[in-house]
Amino acid sequence: MAILPIITAPDPRLKIRSEPVEQFDDELRAFMDDMLATMYDAPGVGLSAIQVGVAKRAMVVDCAEDGAAAEPLYLVNPEIVESSEDLRSYEEGCLSLPEQYAEVERPAVIRVRYRDQFGAEQELQAEGLLSTCIQHEMDHFDGVLFVDHISALKRNMILRRLKKAKKLQATG
Ligand code: NI
Repeated sequence: MAILPIITAPDPRLKIRSEPVEQFDDELRAFMDDMLATMYDAPGVGLSAIQVGVAKRAMVVDCAEDGAAAEPLYLVNPEIVESSEDLRSYEEGCLSLPEQYAEVERPAVIRVRYRDQFGAEQELQAEGLLSTCIQHEMDHFDGVLFVDHISALKRNMILRRLKKAKKLQATG
């Protein structure tokens, strides 16, 4: 398994709308294993394909509690078929927006229909961190970042910080 470079904001690729996956083959499974290894290495609890430059609707997540056994999930072409009116607020971060965090409100419980890495149709109900995480990763499929859910003032502050960090990095 390979560790893939993660794209960080600002980057136009993070605004791309990803396409559904059509081929469930060894290539997809190897790529998603690389995504998972990349996510664990970062470390993070979710990663969408576009964050490593591939505009496909595929994500990996693992929201197991610290110290518990790993619970990797491979979600391909997921769709939310039900979401609760109850909202949950969580301080989100993103591997593409390193060291930036903000409170985001989203439906607390969702039902998701998706295909696994073998193409089999699956459904799951998610609450808590897993619910937040899946919704956050699905946003990436449509070029939406967690900062797009907060006030313009806070968003611009975070984006300015990221731009600055990138410039510092570029100049070494
Ligand atoms: Ni993210």
